[in-house]
Amino acid sequence: MGFNAKWHQEKIQRVEEYVAQHKAEIAQHPWRENYHFQTPVGWMNDPHGLIQFQGKFHLFYQHHPFSGKWGTMHWGHAISKDLIHWEHQPEALAPSEDYDGWEGGGIFTGSAIEHQNELILYYTGCAKDRQVQCMASSTDGLNFIKSDHNPVLSDPPAGINPHDFRDPKVWKQGDIWYMVTGVTDGVSDLIEPSNSQKNGLGKVCLHRSKNLKNWEFVNYLVESSGELGTMLECPNFFPLDGKWVLMYSPMGLQERQVVYLTGDFDEQTGKFHWQTMGSVDLGFDYYAPQHFRDDQGRNLIMAWVGSWPFMPWCRGEYDTSELGWYGSLTLPRQIRLCPDGKLASEPVQEVEQLREQEQYYAPCVIEEATPFSFTAGDGVHCEIIASFDLSETSAQQIVFRLRGSAEQETKLEFDLAKGEMIFDRTRSGNISALQRKCPLESASQPQLTVRIFMDSISIEVFTDNGRTTMTNNIFSNPESNELSISTVGGRTRLLGLRTFGLKSTVIA
Ligand code: FRU
Repeated sequence: MGFNAKWHQEKIQRVEEYVAQHKAEIAQHPWRENYHFQTPVGWMNDPHGLIQFQGKFHLFYQHHPFSGKWGTMHWGHAISKDLIHWEHQPEALAPSEDYDGWEGGGIFTGSAIEHQNELILYYTGCAKDRQVQCMASSTDGLNFIKSDHNPVLSDPPAGINPHDFRDPKVWKQGDIWYMVTGVTDGVSDLIEPSNSQKNGLGKVCLHRSKNLKNWEFVNYLVESSGELGTMLECPNFFPLDGKWVLMYSPMGLQERQVVYLTGDFDEQTGKFHWQTMGSVDLGFDYYAPQHFRDDQGRNLIMAWVGSWPFMPWCRGEYDTSELGWYGSLTLPRQIRLCPDGKLASEPVQEVEQLREQEQYYAPCVIEEATPFSFTAGDGVHCEIIASFDLSETSAQQIVFRLRGSAEQETKLEFDLAKGEMIFDRTRSGNISALQRKCPLESASQPQLTVRIFMDSISIEVFTDNGRTTMTNNIFSNPESNELSISTVGGRTRLLGLRTFGLKSTVIA
């Protein structure tokens, strides 16, 4: 039976009506982000289908419009000219077929390509008894038709759990189209959530096709023997600065959320020989980044700012779900490969257009007894760039106090003695009130430079020249807006501090 476009359109219409009814009320909440992308209504997770098509950036995302909790998934859609200002579009895909789970999990994560002037989407249909790969296409980039050939790939290789076969990322190399998907040979997390940490060995499947419809299994790019995770969600595989990068979101690796592996791709065998492993971001709330290359040749990634109940620190209770929404996206980041095989990232330069109220603080010494108070915009929506001369620092710790008030504070600590960065949200107001630590390379360098982006609830931190990043949500009162820098165990020399307020991109 062919695709029933009218029924699909009706389902999209229902989403649009629901969104129109609820968006004004949701927009008023002070926890709504000012310049990070969010869906107007409902739950969102992974960004996907990132592409430049007919001169505009397209962003699709996992969307459950009808509540602030995960449910039967749809694809939300937005368009931008500059990666910063996004215009919401009607829902791109709604689950309408048995194969794409209209009564099940719905339409899961995927990717976009351009072919013969069409924007083609690949996605996982999460049907009742299995996950299958499907396609949909559009000539105008707004209205999508699901292929009559769906599902274009319904069977994973032998031994793979058909409930965990998802997140197709498609690209072209020479004349051949390739697709990577994440799979496991263990018990599905969807069937037995408590098992997801224990069972199975994750793999990344590589398929290829000449016509985008018939797909042939090539090999497993990588196979975990425990060290890579139990299920490798949202794989991305792309060349970068002379090497190949496999970036994915593992289940079963405890605190390690988003992994990258860099190495060499053997196209003959379809095997990836990686040499270096790292974390794309080390915060609590960073998952499912997707990579795309723009027409300037930049390698860009955007990720979900949020976390899943299977992550040890997330109890499955979300701070904003009862308000009818959850989730946002990171700023778009440009990535590069460092000579030692590690990845580094920085927000795209277009972010700078949001800057206002610039402040510059001249170099000075910060003594232990005297915290250095400063301002950055309204103290909530701002950018902070600070450098410290570590050769003239006796302190063991340099501590940023962010979003402070009598009742609340968020601490970002640079422990030079231990070589760690610590994000402490135990007093931020969050349900999940915890600390997150990661190694700080700059502790052994002459200089420490930190760049912090704060929005209503998210904080993105960049240090170690972009080699260490952390993204976390905090749910503080909007009135908590004090900022200061202090030290523990000695003094530090502040080389310079620049701050900016950041303008909102929300269209009223
Ligand atoms: C990752 C993920 C994907 C899946 C989607 C479902 O966050 O679990 O593997 O396709 O979310 O919403």
